[in-house]
Amino acid sequence: MKAAVPTLNVRSGSGAVLELQDGRRLLDCISSWWVTLHGHAQPEIAAAIAAQAQQLEQVLAAGFTHRPAEELARRLVDSLPAPLQWVFYSDDGSTAVEVALKLAYQFWQNTGEPDRRRFLRLEGAYHGDTLGAMSLGERSLFTAPFVDLLFPAEAVPFPATWEGDDDVEAKEAQALAHLQGLLAEHPGEYAAMVLEPLVQGAGGMRMCRPQFLVALQALLREHDVLMIYDEVLTGFGRTGELFACQKTATQPDIICLAKGLTGGFLPLAATVCNGRVFDAFYHDDPSKAFYHGHSYTANPLGCAAALASLDLLVAEKYRSLTDWQREQVTRLNQHERLCRVRRCGTIVAVDVLVDGDEGYLHQVGSLLRERFLARGFLLRPLGNTVYILPPYCIDRTQLSSIYDVLFELLDEL
Ligand SMILES: Cc1ncc(COP(=O)(O)O)c(C=O)c1O
Repeated sequence: MKAAVPTLNVRSGSGAVLELQDGRRLLDCISSWWVTLHGHAQPEIAAAIAAQAQQLEQVLAAGFTHRPAEELARRLVDSLPAPLQWVFYSDDGSTAVEVALKLAYQFWQNTGEPDRRRFLRLEGAYHGDTLGAMSLGERSLFTAPFVDLLFPAEAVPFPATWEGDDDVEAKEAQALAHLQGLLAEHPGEYAAMVLEPLVQGAGGMRMCRPQFLVALQALLREHDVLMIYDEVLTGFGRTGELFACQKTATQPDIICLAKGLTGGFLPLAATVCNGRVFDAFYHDDPSKAFYHGHSYTANPLGCAAALASLDLLVAEKYRSLTDWQREQVTRLNQHERLCRVRRCGTIVAVDVLVDGDEGYLHQVGSLLRERFLARGFLLRPLGNTVYILPPYCIDRTQLSSIYDVLFELLDEL
């Protein structure tokens, strides 16, 4: 609190714009931490929530269900690759990941391989702030005080790539060789590998190629290790396809969804698994059941918002945003103060060349954030990484203005 910058009081939002109490307007260039899919106060979603609130606002999910929960589960399963069939609701990205890791861990106990207790992760990963999710993420400033509470998860190098990267194949080969080494060293001991497919968000908007995930999947399958995709960020069109697993033609055993699930209106998450995982819990013996629940599991308002958001996604506005972002990337490539330009669907990221250690704490991040704010743009660089991840309702002129200001600020630096 002592070191915090003054907080801004937001009065309202409309489309890609937020209006502050003092009348200032800000263009939300990061979808309010990657949740706002279609725009702020999106009328159809707001109306769906209002209608649902007048009918059923909440009911416990133990022994009860309701139309929005059932319909949403069906719609999610229809949108995902065919093997992903069973939906488990929770509250946010972190709990979606907790559910996935608990499912994976108990899966092997239920199927008679209790020695499979280890987890694999990618270097630079971020999966949330609860203890299990932190354990599966990169150790950092944020996790340091809790490090003794975290369980180990072996890290595989992340073959981060960008436009004009000549070393990508070598990096991928090294990562796969490392994974192969770990699998050979601990045969029959890995329960699952957890990863953010294609884009590592909080780790610096680092991106990898689809081919890497295809090769990774082959290795994991060969050693019968479950593959868990954390699509909390990449889901619902962000990568240019509805889900990263579709863009990469890979099929995780378990997928975690949150953030954009409700279009950014309400906290709701889903962990969806395939029939093999589900079957391991489908038993007469109560000790094989999956005991996990939250007070607001499958909250009807969240489910109603998610259904309205899925309706809006049918228009595939993320495809035009993908095209416009592609146009802008050409401009970034030409700037001498920028490097490692990368894009995946609607997401663009670039690193500012700086003196000293790059990374989350680099002061250029807060400097740019303040200067963007002063110009009416909400951006939060991750250290020297600037990323642009707007809601799908942004228009081409608004998008272009973000890049115009970025260039002006770079000249001022
Ligand atoms: C990939 C990924 N997984 C999980 C989370 C955690 O989600 P939440 O903040 O909703 O708990 C995040 C949050 O940024 C994320 O980017």
